[in-house]
Amino acid sequence: MLTVAVLISGTGSNLRALLEAAASPDFPARVVVVGADREADGFVHAEDFGIPTVLVPFREFETREQWGDELRRQIDVWTPDLVVLSGLMRLLPQGVVDAWAPALINTHPAYLPEFPGAHGVRDALAAGVAETGASVIVVDGGVDSGPILAQERVAVLPGDTEATLHERIKPVERRLLIDVVRGIATGEIDLDAVAATP
Ligand code: GAR
Repeated sequence: MLTVAVLISGTGSNLRALLEAAASPDFPARVVVVGADREADGFVHAEDFGIPTVLVPFREFETREQWGDELRRQIDVWTPDLVVLSGLMRLLPQGVVDAWAPALINTHPAYLPEFPGAHGVRDALAAGVAETGASVIVVDGGVDSGPILAQERVAVLPGDTEATLHERIKPVERRLLIDVVRGIATGEIDLDAVAATP
């Protein structure tokens, strides 16, 4: 059974989908802890499923490195096999990425390498593209620049706002995330091999 830590900053709707999938006895992974950099609304989903939570407020630390080290220390108590960034809106310091990689993945609401960063949906709308998408990647040292594990296109519709487009992307993200976590758990996806491929 693959053990998973999930890190969030916001509503945690993708976290909830993963928790629901993992509640099935057939699913080969379990969420063992949920962490956040702020009082995230999504903690409620962890509580609904009886999963422990770890709050390490970014603002209480002088440097990103100190925050990241403490987050890592508290998450590592649960010895997860995989860490999933599911809407964590902070860059992890390089030392933490190096410690967890390649078992460190991220969901992103765009078809990477298009529209990386904190505003993937807004940037796609501003660019006037007809299609954007959703991606799940391995985290590396850059901003949404790691190897792509799964991605799918989502159409931009006339009249879309950032909110309506994001709400259409999220169900795709959820499906991709659940498939990727299952694939890692079954060995179908070999993160070491993916990370080693140039
Ligand atoms: C998701 O769309 C996730 O991909 C995005 O934040 C949203 C979180 O939604 N992450 C990023 O944009 C990271 N660059 P949720 O809190 O409802 O799961």
